Amino acid sequence: MTFQRACGLSELEEDTPKRVELDGTPVSLVRTEGEVFAINDICSHANVSLSEGEVDDCHIECWLHGSRFDLRSGKPDSLPATRPVPVYPVKIEGDDVLVSLSQES
Ligand code: FES
Repeated sequence: MTFQRACGLSELEEDTPKRVELDGTPVSLVRTEGEVFAINDICSHANVSLSEGEVDDCHIECWLHGSRFDLRSGKPDSLPATRPVPVYPVKIEGDDVLVSLSQES
């Protein structure tokens, strides 16, 4: 598994998603509940950016139609989205947030 630096940990505000591009893949980084999660930034229902949505209870909510995706699994827990969004492993090293795109789930 290859990890690459996505951003600095201090750049992430609690419950405020940050969009980054890694190898051309849009990724939303979310710091919440003492952890950092990386989820593909494109909603599985339509082509909108999840990082513009709200974070609550380890979920990110799509701002357009309101589907909520679990940051741990990428699975939606409400309609209209039915397909999961890829999530990526995250490692913290010092102030660096590292993400691996190679193992999507
Ligand atoms: S575009 Fe995200 S739920 Fe419809």
